[in-house]
Amino acid sequence: MGVKMKRITVKSIVEMKGERRITAITAYDYTSALLADAAGFDVVLVGDSAAMVIHGYDSTLPIGMEEMSMHVRVVARVVKRALVVADMPFMSYQASESEALKNAGRFMKLGASAVKVEGGREVAPLVAKMVAYGIPVMGHIGMNPQKFNIYGGFRLQGRDKEELLKDALALQDAGAFSIVLEKVPTESAKYVSERLRVPTIGIGAGPYTDGQILVFHDVLGLIPGLNFKFVRRYLNGYEIMKEALERFREDVLNGNFPSPEESYD
Ligand code: KIV
Repeated sequence: MGVKMKRITVKSIVEMKGERRITAITAYDYTSALLADAAGFDVVLVGDSAAMVIHGYDSTLPIGMEEMSMHVRVVARVVKRALVVADMPFMSYQASESEALKNAGRFMKLGASAVKVEGGREVAPLVAKMVAYGIPVMGHIGMNPQKFNIYGGFRLQGRDKEELLKDALALQDAGAFSIVLEKVPTESAKYVSERLRVPTIGIGAGPYTDGQILVFHDVLGLIPGLNFKFVRRYLNGYEIMKEALERFREDVLNGNFPSPEESYD
């Protein structure tokens, strides 16, 4: 019998604050979920960044509940250890509370252990409702990609650390178990992280958050041309994979594939 793996829960994520850093990454399908879990991340977020890195859109706005449900279903089935968080897509939670609860409930039924919503004080009453009905919520403040039309691009936010803290406290008071801080100055992220009971998970927020998250495709360099300052690329995956595909194609053209060993008698 194999060793039983201890599943990461919302409670264990909260308890990591001040003990050790929280590691998080996004995943969208069988391969990315398998790799993320095997690498030992604490949190696997089925991000609405799927709109950009899986479906090829310029923003996260076009993706809806149908596509996200497909991603959540497979990731929740494959991941055995990490906490699976499902990202609520644009307009799946803003229009009405009842629609928001139904959509969040749908992700939970598909196997997610929590949902994530973007926004601060404006979503706090909704977060409180979700938590009251048994749906753990991860908050997301600072640069909210779903608001990029308001900002005029994916611009740095959260320069006013007191305002950022008000949003963070509203989410914490509403029952959010952790909060993503995206693309905010290091000083603001530090200020907020030091004043919360719940952990912060940073992306483009400097080194003082309680954890870090990056997008799977950014870490592995799978999308050419995507190069944010806050991303560290650990692999030039696009070039490496393209080269392998070119070699296979060449081998077909020059008759090197398949060999006798790769053929049946
Ligand atoms: O959708 C996403 O991938 C995210 C992370 C970048 C936090 O929201």
